[in-house]
Amino acid sequence: MAVKPILRMGDPRLLAVAAEVETVPSAELDALIQDLFDTMAANNGAGLAAPQIGVGLRVVVFGVQANPRYPDAGEVPATVLINPLITVLDQAGERGWEGCLSVPGMRGLVERPGRIAYRGMAADGSLIERQAEGFHARVVQHECDHLDGVLYPMRMTDMSAFGFEAELEADGRLGC
Ligand code: NI
Repeated sequence: MAVKPILRMGDPRLLAVAAEVETVPSAELDALIQDLFDTMAANNGAGLAAPQIGVGLRVVVFGVQANPRYPDAGEVPATVLINPLITVLDQAGERGWEGCLSVPGMRGLVERPGRIAYRGMAADGSLIERQAEGFHARVVQHECDHLDGVLYPMRMTDMSAFGFEAELEADGRLGC
């Protein structure tokens, strides 16, 4: 369909709580999902949420396959989740570097639960239910945060671990 412009941090639409999708499947929803995948791919993203392209609905896409932005990340199946729900399976936090297409050029270290279960609808209305850990769990939590108006810098507790990707890379910090 189309690669859409991505809203950047500071745009108030990124802080809004998105609305549940009421009708699944639908042609409009299919078009939105295609736009999300196209826009994510064009920007080498690991995930994208509908509010990031200005659509206030609870829809996220994610997936990682040999992604140049995340060279050390494991593979995550290409997935669309409609009206997703996350259950934390292990409260123990893991720290990991995150980036966001709405915060271009930056990375930050964020602590999140390391093991989750998630569920949501696929584009055809069927149920998706999975458990995830590591990078997979992180991506899902990051994307679902967008549906509640939360950007990863808002989750950070140590702002000394927030900076521009190139400088953090040069300093050898992104590997840890
Ligand atoms: Ni993001």
